[in-house]
Amino acid sequence: MNVIEIKPDIYWVGVVDWAVRDFHGYVTPSGTTYNNYLILDEEITLVDTVKHDFLDVGIANIKSVVDPLKIKNIVINHIENDHMGALDRVMEIVPRDVTIYTTKRAKDGMDRFFDISKWNIITVKTGDEVKTGKYTLKFIETPMIHWPDSMMTYVQGAKLLMSQDAFGQHLASAARFDDEFIDCASLTELEDATLDYYANILMPFGTLIKAKIAEIKKMGIEIDMIAPDHGVIWRKNPELAMEMYLDMANNQANERIVIIYDTMWNSTEQMTLPIMRGIRDEGVDCRVIKLRATPMSVAIKEFWKSRGCLIGSPTLNNEVFPSIAEFMVHLLGLRPKERLMAAFGSYGWGGGAVKWLYEMFNKMKMPVVEPGIGVQYRLKPDDEKKCYEFGRNFAQQVKEYQKKFSIVSTKLCKLCK
Ligand code: FEO
Repeated sequence: MNVIEIKPDIYWVGVVDWAVRDFHGYVTPSGTTYNNYLILDEEITLVDTVKHDFLDVGIANIKSVVDPLKIKNIVINHIENDHMGALDRVMEIVPRDVTIYTTKRAKDGMDRFFDISKWNIITVKTGDEVKTGKYTLKFIETPMIHWPDSMMTYVQGAKLLMSQDAFGQHLASAARFDDEFIDCASLTELEDATLDYYANILMPFGTLIKAKIAEIKKMGIEIDMIAPDHGVIWRKNPELAMEMYLDMANNQANERIVIIYDTMWNSTEQMTLPIMRGIRDEGVDCRVIKLRATPMSVAIKEFWKSRGCLIGSPTLNNEVFPSIAEFMVHLLGLRPKERLMAAFGSYGWGGGAVKWLYEMFNKMKMPVVEPGIGVQYRLKPDDEKKCYEFGRNFAQQVKEYQKKFSIVSTKLCKLCK
């Protein structure tokens, strides 16, 4: 893929990684992109770098636009490896006196990755500006979106926000802009990828995201394009991208229940069917995910989309099943909010999985429907009936709980209208 001019004299010089399927444990079914940008102004400025493995392509892209020896500034918005891991090699092809603009925390982090003793680094804070010629860069610190070092760069004169991880998607595609997704199916794919990224990467930071979007709006800057470091650039719908983020930061979810379970001898699996029927008979949408057959990041996304979640686990050695434990620990770290939870599972003698799950829900401070339900060895007809009623009751509680929130439809889609 060649470079693309996204605004007058501002180029996308990133790379598309068509092949990656495991992004530090996160499943990326269509790959991803590592975006970075080159501003051809009086002071030529590179914003971020690409992932180390793709640096040769990244440098070739830069060279197709300008001699790297003419680069005057490098802006590093975020120091995670996929955006800064190749900075030492970039420094070998730019002038020695190039100026790096980044936050104090990023500089401290850089010092852990590289020998920065000979680098000219200027640390910046929110509101600091650098005039590059016809454009002026305004920096906005965004700590924890995604790491403590993170910031965004607003290009005054271009109404362009370079947002690093925020508003990104792990989505490799021929398209570079959101408006190139032209039918409902592809728009749904884009929305799903945006939601997936938020759920798996940014879920813990909803409060910060709300505050940061409010701060950006208060700054009075005009944004007509958002250029993230992954996925497509929001050219047509930057406002909708922000709205989607606000909805997610406000813990919006569909009136839907996801059943996430694993099973040993299929008893827990058999419990899911009458539970699902009970949910459906209450008119609530229901998704069923067998954890061992599903990537963790897909289960996280489906959890995040749904107002209610049922976790099903057999008991193994008086404890929860290991795959479910792994999922729950992952979820704990993502600090979800405002999803109604309950648990079910089969056991042979002492039980323990359902109790373990409720202890975990409490640790996560999640609202719960109690009690959970357990079945010994195999479902009998009366167990099936109890599971069905358990599903119905849970669905009723989810419908009631959903009334607290403004979105009560079964669709979050904002793009496909
Ligand atoms: Fe794409 Fe937080 O790095």
